Formats: sequence, C-alpha cells, structure tokens
Amino acid sequence: MLVATSFLSSKNPPRDLKLLDETDTDYIHVDVMDGKFVKNKTMPFSEMSKIYKYTKKRLDVHLMVDDASKYIKDYATLNSEYITIHVESKNVKDNLLLIKEYHVKPGLAIKPNTNVSEIIPYLPLISEILIMSVEPGMGGQEFIVDTKEKIKEIKQLVKEYKLPILINIDGGINSDTIKYCSDCDMVVSGSYIINSDNFQERINSLR
Ligand code: DX5
Ligand code: ZN
Repeated sequence: MLVATSFLSSKNPPRDLKLLDETDTDYIHVDVMDGKFVKNKTMPFSEMSKIYKYTKKRLDVHLMVDDASKYIKDYATLNSEYITIHVESKNVKDNLLLIKEYHVKPGLAIKPNTNVSEIIPYLPLISEILIMSVEPGMGGQEFIVDTKEKIKEIKQLVKEYKLPILINIDGGINSDTIKYCSDCDMVVSGSYIINSDNFQERINSLR
C-alpha cells in the first residue's frame, strides 16, 4: 500500500515536511483550496513554493478549486508527480490535457455524492483516481463508510477498461478505516499521521 501524507493539519509545515522526509512516506499530499469550490482557502502558492524544498519527496497535489488552469501552471513547476483536479470543477478535459502538457501525471478526484459514471469519459486521460471518503474542505473528518461501495465500483471500472490508473483514497484514513481500503493502491492520510509524535509508526500501520 502506497501512503501519501497530507500536512493540511500541520501547525508547523516546514518542521513536519522535514520530519516526513525522514520517513518512507511515498508522497507528500498537498491540499489546495480556493475558498470557492470549498469554503476554506489554503496553501497559497507563494508559501508552497518555499516550503516544498524542505522535502525531497514528490508531491501529490490535490486541487480543490473551481478553475484549475492557473494552479496547474504553478504547481507543475514544483516537484509534482501527480496533479489532481475535481470531476465537479470547470473545464475538466482541458485541464487534464494541460497537466499532461507539463509532463505531470493527471488525476481526477470524485466527491462522495458524485456518481462514478461522471468519470468514465476521462478515464483514457488520467493516471490517478482520487476517491474522496469525506466531503472535501478540511482535515480531521470521519471516514464515510459508504465509500467502500464506490471503491468496488471504481476498481471494477479500471479493470474493465484495462487502464494503468492508480486508485487513491482521501479523508479520514487511520489504522481502523484502512480496512475499507484494501482495493486501493494508495491512501492519503493527514491528521492521523501529523497529530502523532511518531510519523513512521503511523505510516507503518497503514501499509
Ligand atoms: C480534505 C483533504 C484531505 C485531508 C486529509 O479536504 O483533501 O487530504 O486533509 O486529512 P485527514 O486524513 O485528516 O482526513
Ligand atoms: Zn486531499
């Protein structure tokens, strides 16, 4: 199981990014919110462009924004392996193609109440599906148990289409809810890892 760590709940991102660099977390998950697609606003690019240097880990960028185009240009200049936009956001196809133009792997996120059929047209364009197991907008929420049905559906879909798409899941992941994620390739975990004084131990419990 791949583990991406979200530092959204961190009170000291530079310190925690340095600490995460010493763990074997596979990616740093960067949550970007515009105050429109979701209520909160977070991680101004001016700040991220400084602090990403505290880790050599590659970034898994999650754009919770209405129009991703201007964010894509910025985040493509960092150490980003994946940039994920929401299927519920504007200009999805153009933005997925834009991510590819920058030689970054495009991902597509889906909110808890969005039907899986919405992502079908984009499957040939993406490298990652990010299943939201909480409503996007903040860290520390409880895992929505119904998500396990969505994981099954998406796993089946990816198998049917025979495409090399990574299945990732985001929100409320901890040593208890990990049991619902065995069909996923990667999990994003935030507060469970960050609110601990031993990041590696928490990561190990998710693998
Ligand atoms: C929610 C974010 C998640 C979140 C994960 O909007 O996309 O990445 O920060 O944090 P936890 O694990 O605390 O739910
Ligand atoms: Zn996220």
